[in-house]
Amino acid sequence: MAEITRREFVTTAGVITGGLACGIPMAHGREDDRMASVRTEVAEQPGAGSIPLGLTINGQEHRVDIDPRVTLLDLLRDRLNLTGTKKGCDHGQCGACTVLANGRRINSCLSLALVHEGEQITTIEGLAHGDELHPLQTAFIEYDGFQCGYCTPGQICSAAALIEEARRGDVSVVTADLSKDGPAELSVEEVRERMSGNICRCGAYPGIVQAVQFVSRKGAAQSSKNGARDAAI
Ligand code: FES
Ligand code: FES
Repeated sequence: MAEITRREFVTTAGVITGGLACGIPMAHGREDDRMASVRTEVAEQPGAGSIPLGLTINGQEHRVDIDPRVTLLDLLRDRLNLTGTKKGCDHGQCGACTVLANGRRINSCLSLALVHEGEQITTIEGLAHGDELHPLQTAFIEYDGFQCGYCTPGQICSAAALIEEARRGDVSVVTADLSKDGPAELSVEEVRERMSGNICRCGAYPGIVQAVQFVSRKGAAQSSKNGARDAAI
């Protein structure tokens, strides 16, 4: 049996790894691009087979006829022109598309619009009161919680829900004391874990964590009384 030297093994492994890194993802990338354009087309052109949908977005009622295959993300961006919610991966992996459905954070790219019949949806556009920014928006600015800003709408929507989850005492996988009642304390580790579904390619994580902790400590995020905006805070 022929022996393979360590150098030959490393060279062969490098070729295989390089192929995986360059070839296969590129093929997937072309497919993803094609699917993204199909989804956009479907969202923009309701036709035969369209189904009526009623939901409230940022406090405003909407009734639309949509193709049942349209995602909530494409409905928001392509039909309703609410482009604050971003499309990153379109596969539930980056969190850029995070919005709030009845106060719960979801990846809108993974969710069909039709399943949100009658729900209260809150997007980044619904968090501010006119010219008055949401406390998290102010904190992200003050703590340098972003660079390019592409992930920021999703980060802020996610953080708004996170603060409410912690306030009602929801635990995470890094919560040490599971017997403790009351609001969960948002340590750096807790914020990192609870925000782990939101990826920032610019690496603005230190500022994001500080901003979330600041707003949580100040109790600036308000509980909901009515409307989609309040449900999200
Ligand atoms: S675009 Fe939805 S998770 Fe990335
Ligand atoms: S600020 Fe650029 S991806 Fe997060």
